[in-house]
Amino acid sequence: MPIILGADPQTAASVLTVLPPGSQVVDSADRLLNWLSSHPDEYAVLIGPGVPVPEAIALAERLRTAMPTTTVVLLRHEVDTTVLTQAMHAGVREVLPSNDLAQVSGAMERAHALSMALRGSQSAGSGRSGGKVITIFSPKGGVGKTTMSVNLGIALMRGGANKVCVVDLDLAFGDIAITLQLFPSHSIEHAIGGEHAMDQAFIQELMTPHESGLMVLAAPSAPDARERVSGVLVARLLQTLKEHYDFVVLDTAPAFDEQTLTALDETDECIIVATLDVPTLKNVKVALETLDVLGVAEGRRHLLLNRADDQVGIGADKVEGILGMNVSVQVATSLDIAKATNAGRPLMLSSPSHPSSKAIRSLADRLMGLAPSGAPESAGVGSRSPISAAAPSPAASSSDKDAPRRFRLSRR
Ligand SMILES: Nc1ncnc2c1ncn2[C@@H]1O[C@H](COP(=O)(O)OP(=O)(O)OP(=O)(O)O)[C@@H](O)[C@H]1O
Ligand SMILES: [Mg+2]
Repeated sequence: MPIILGADPQTAASVLTVLPPGSQVVDSADRLLNWLSSHPDEYAVLIGPGVPVPEAIALAERLRTAMPTTTVVLLRHEVDTTVLTQAMHAGVREVLPSNDLAQVSGAMERAHALSMALRGSQSAGSGRSGGKVITIFSPKGGVGKTTMSVNLGIALMRGGANKVCVVDLDLAFGDIAITLQLFPSHSIEHAIGGEHAMDQAFIQELMTPHESGLMVLAAPSAPDARERVSGVLVARLLQTLKEHYDFVVLDTAPAFDEQTLTALDETDECIIVATLDVPTLKNVKVALETLDVLGVAEGRRHLLLNRADDQVGIGADKVEGILGMNVSVQVATSLDIAKATNAGRPLMLSSPSHPSSKAIRSLADRLMGLAPSGAPESAGVGSRSPISAAAPSPAASSSDKDAPRRFRLSRR
């Protein structure tokens, strides 16, 4: 986010009103340089009227070579041609009256666009193709979406080899933060209004690091903020995060709301979480049909059967028949998982060799392309014969092709 140096409190306060949330004010060149050294993606530096012209020129010259994608804007109480000429020679891109907020705002938009264009061409040259968005979805609440999101996020890190973040898109009642025992000072709420000036530095300011190295973009602290998080904001957030992270894991609300639909649109791999109960399976079936209609992650959907060992008269093979897709991974009901949630330390960290951790890691391996995509994995799940990934599931078999598409479930 833009940073201002050398502005008196009144000027700083008025300029800040046209800068994006998260913009900084510093009172010395040393602090500015220090801050820039940890924010190499910064797109704009504003040098205020309090900095004498020779110092401002020297600073601009230094930044011109050290940070060529950063726009330097010189703010003066009065702009004269001598200053203008000197400034331009030093690489200052704009010299503006400090009280002309419309011009400052326009300069920031140009600075952001220029920085994105320059960095875009740099990253195109570096060959980075962008990370994967992995969405954990279920139309039902309480099935384990959040639990799987944090554990999968940690597994995808592979001990630090991959950069991974988790975004809590359960905007009204998200509990990624509490599940990881984090107390975020910022959340998605602070990105509201920033959709058109979104960059990595901006998002990084809003993230909360977990001790594991996982980065978390938390849900708003109050449910009413959900209404103000637009689909456009979600799309921009995800597109920007993809540029920086190898994997962006999304925990979602159990609903097809605007934000979830946008997220599904940006999704590379979709993990659908189901449990062995009739209402959940009915809703998952309907949700899968909706994903078909929307064309979401076709061929890149993975069914995660949670609490897969519950003895409730429906087994994983029956689930495959009902849903018409193979179960990719099964996680058994385990007191250790519930305890890990309550302790605020995910099972993947507290007990990496636990069967459930292994099962989730196998899914992570598949998402990373490290394991064959068909081989299902089960964790502490009964003695049922393993599901054959190669065999077509009953609902998808040719003998069933005349069956009505709508959900039918026999409770026998
Ligand atoms: N396999 C499991 N065995 C035991 N407990 C589990 C298992 N999976 C999840 N849980 C527990 O179930 C509870 C609900 O899980 P979680 O919060 O992950 O569900 P959710 O789908 O995110 O719910 P919501 O829709 O309300 O956000 C948590 O206390 C969690 O510890
Ligand atoms: Mg949840």
